Amino acid sequence: MENRDVHLLLAMVLTATVGSGVAYAQTIVTDDQGNSEVIYDVGSLYPAVGAQLTYDYCTACHSEMIIAQQGQTREGWDEILVWMVEEMGMSEIEEEYRDQILDYLATHYGPDRPHFPDN
Ligand code: HEC
Repeated sequence: MENRDVHLLLAMVLTATVGSGVAYAQTIVTDDQGNSEVIYDVGSLYPAVGAQLTYDYCTACHSEMIIAQQGQTREGWDEILVWMVEEMGMSEIEEEYRDQILDYLATHYGPDRPHFPDN
């Protein structure tokens, strides 16, 4: 009986921790056009609209640092995405999402490297 109570208590503590963890980690970002996105984990990517989508698509095979260290124009990023599909085995990304990812990358990881990692 005593043992069972301990387990119950443990289950309650775990539920509370997970519950508040999720609520705390989510942020909603919005851009000038009024687009918004829920951000829950983008690693070291800059948290702006498109970051979660990019993180989810692009970190299946490698770290997001490989992205953060690049500075490319939209055309440059477009070529990288073609290369990911043709040579690296990435699945084609649906047009709508592909555009959003390119917008995000060109804005935040452009040639002037506004969010280049410090380390
Ligand atoms: C199917 C696996 C896969 C996916 C998904 C993927 N990549 Fe890659 N990517 C690779 C591999 C493999 C390499 C080269 C090996 C390495 O450096 O780890 C690479 C390398 C890179 C590089 C480094 C290029 C260089 O010159 O060093 C960039 C930038 C990049 N990927 C961007 C992206 C972006 C942006 C996405 C999401 C749209 C993405 N990758 C999704 C497999 C993938």
